[in-house]
Amino acid sequence: MRLKDKVAVITGAGAGIGRAIAVRFAAEGAKVAVTDINERAALQVTDEILAAGGSAHAYRCDVADQAAVDAVMQAVTEDLGDIDILVNNAGGAIVGGKMQHFESCTREYMDTLIGINLMGTLFCTRAVLPRMIERGCGGRIINLTSIRGVAGDKNNILYGTAKGGVISFTKSLAMAMGKYAITVNAIAPGAIDSRPGPAACTNFLGHPGKCSEVAALALHLASDEGGFMTGDIINIDGGRTLGCKDD
Ligand SMILES: NC(=O)c1ccc[n+]([C@@H]2O[C@H](COP(=O)([O-])OP(=O)(O)OC[C@H]3O[C@@H](n4cnc5c(N)ncnc54)[C@H](O)[C@@H]3O)[C@@H](O)[C@H]2O)c1
Repeated sequence: MRLKDKVAVITGAGAGIGRAIAVRFAAEGAKVAVTDINERAALQVTDEILAAGGSAHAYRCDVADQAAVDAVMQAVTEDLGDIDILVNNAGGAIVGGKMQHFESCTREYMDTLIGINLMGTLFCTRAVLPRMIERGCGGRIINLTSIRGVAGDKNNILYGTAKGGVISFTKSLAMAMGKYAITVNAIAPGAIDSRPGPAACTNFLGHPGKCSEVAALALHLASDEGGFMTGDIINIDGGRTLGCKDD
């Protein structure tokens, strides 16, 4: 058990990569706070973990709502204990089911997309850090960015910008938190099969990655074995950032 009795908060854990991370962390002995804007989805994942003999608790949380984030982190601490691991996973390339381009998007769309992908990461981290520092026994912050944040995204400028911000935040925070033994890293996936159906895939392996493969990487960063990694942005993309296989 690589995370025995660690308290881990996963945002956006009701589906996809976040769900896989929650399930894997629980299988490794963590007490998992399954948080999601979709409470029903969070409850389903919690039931799945409990049925497998793990420890989990569901919370409704919109990461873009700072007051709600503060309240949920407080509730997690009261219910499960001090937070050891935070995975800022909630995010997405599109909001409201339809992409709006930067050149013509509404202010509301811009706020929502940046709110989920960047501000949510800041709010959640801000809510857990003071206690992590005060406890003086380290901590782990793991942020989900994207290869679109690493390389930029001409087709979705707002998403590329938000995920680029997550990368910069990860590096800056890692530098500041090293003296407290708090590590801060980011995972940058390429195409991952988080949704049913065919995924656009132009990597060198010719297939999308699995959510469980991203969860395995998150586990390494959260566990003792990952203790010397901080400020790292780790691509998990089938080689996609090396170039396009059709170039
Ligand atoms: N799937 C990919 O190919 C891929 C590639 C690169 C990066 N990522 C990143 O990985 C992370 C997870 O992606 P995924 O594909 O598993 O997503 P997903 O859409 O499958 O699941 C996202 C979950 O987040 C929840 N959510 C949405 N808005 C929220 C909010 N405001 N507050 C809290 N929860 C919210 C949803 O209800 C859902 O359960 C995201 O940050 C995404 O940008 C995914």
